[in-house]
Amino acid sequence: MRPATTHNLIQRLLDKLTSNQPAAPASLRIDASHVSDPDVLQQDMEYLLNVPQIVGFSVEIASGSYLTRDVLQRPILFCRNNNGQLKAFLNACRHRGARVAEACGKASTFVCPFHGWCYDTDGELVGRRDDSAFDLNQDASLLALPVTEKAGLIILGLQHQAMTAATDSALENIEDELTSFNLNGMFPLETRTLTVKANWKLIATLSHEAYHFATLHRRSVAEVLMDTFVVDYFGQHSRWAFPLKGIEKWAQAPKSTWPERFPGAVNHTLFPGNTVLITNPEDAQMIRVDPGAAPNMSTVHFTGLYRNQDAPEASREMFEFGYQVFTEEDLPIAESCQRGFDAGLPDMAIGSNEPVVKFWFEQWTRWIR
Ligand code: FES
Ligand SMILES: [Fe+2]
Repeated sequence: MRPATTHNLIQRLLDKLTSNQPAAPASLRIDASHVSDPDVLQQDMEYLLNVPQIVGFSVEIASGSYLTRDVLQRPILFCRNNNGQLKAFLNACRHRGARVAEACGKASTFVCPFHGWCYDTDGELVGRRDDSAFDLNQDASLLALPVTEKAGLIILGLQHQAMTAATDSALENIEDELTSFNLNGMFPLETRTLTVKANWKLIATLSHEAYHFATLHRRSVAEVLMDTFVVDYFGQHSRWAFPLKGIEKWAQAPKSTWPERFPGAVNHTLFPGNTVLITNPEDAQMIRVDPGAAPNMSTVHFTGLYRNQDAPEASREMFEFGYQVFTEEDLPIAESCQRGFDAGLPDMAIGSNEPVVKFWFEQWTRWIR
C-alpha cells in the first residue's frame, strides 16, 4: 500500500474515533433463498462460470512448476514454463478425461495415469502408446483456458477463449491499488483446502464486517484489532480496513512520523465476491470460496504469503493465528447460520454498521433472476 493511502486511512480512522457518531439505522433484509435455495445456487454457478475468477497468487507457481486446483468444481492445471509464461488447462486427459496432474511441483511432462498419454507443459500431446490406433487429425492437446496475471494475482476464465478480454480487464478499477502491495515480491507459505457445510456467501461475508469481533473473536482478534473501520469501493470491488489497537497514538504525532504501511488489516474483496485478499504490513492471505454441489456446501482455499525473507517464522505464526481463528471461530459460526436457514429461517438482517456485507449482497442480488 502506498504511504499516502496508509495516511489517508489512518486520518479517516482517527476522525471516526473522535467524531463518535452512531451509525444511522438502515437495516436491509436479505431473503434466505440466497444461501439455501438450489435454484439460486444454480444461477450463482452459471454467473460465476462466465466471469473471471481470481484463483491464487502468481508467486505460488515458480518457473518450471505446475499447480493443480479445483475452481468452481472444475479440475484446473496451471503451468509456468521456464520463460515465466503461465498457462492454464482443464486438468482432463483428451483420451478419456482422467486428471493428468496431481498436487503441485516441478515437471516437464505429465503422464496420464489411466493409459499413459503424455503431455508437455504447453498442453501438447507428446507421446502415447499405440499412436497409430488414433486419428492423428483429432485435436489431442489439453483444453487451454484463458489465464492472465495482474498485480500478482492469477485470473482465470473457465468457459472458453472468448473470456480472454474479460480476464484481462477483471481488475482494471483496482489494479493500481493492488499493485502497490507488491505481492510479486512476497513468498508463498502454503495453501490449505477445506470443505465447509455452509453457503459460499455466508463464508465470504465472514471477512466483511467487524461487528462480530467483540463477541465471536473476543479472545482472539478483538485482543489485537479494533472494530472501527473505513470502507472504499473500486468499481465492483471493495476495500475494508481496520487498525491494530493503539491507532489513537498517531493523533498526537506529526504525519511525517506515521507508518508507511497500514498498521492493521486491509481486506480487499474482489469481484465476483468469492475471493478475499487480506493484507497486513508483512503478510498476505487469500481466502477463496467455491460453491459446492448443494447450497450448504463450499470449498475454501486458504493461502498465505510472507514478505520478509529473513523472518518467515513470524509470518508462519500470523498465518497459523489467522487460520485458527478462521477455522475454529468463523467457519463453525457460518455452519451454524446455515443450519438456521436450512431449518426455515426466512431472512437475515444487515445493519448500516455492515456496509461491505450490504454491498456484496446487493451485487449478488442483481444476477439472480
Ligand atoms: S484417460 Fe488418459 S490416457 Fe486414457
Ligand atoms: Fe471473523
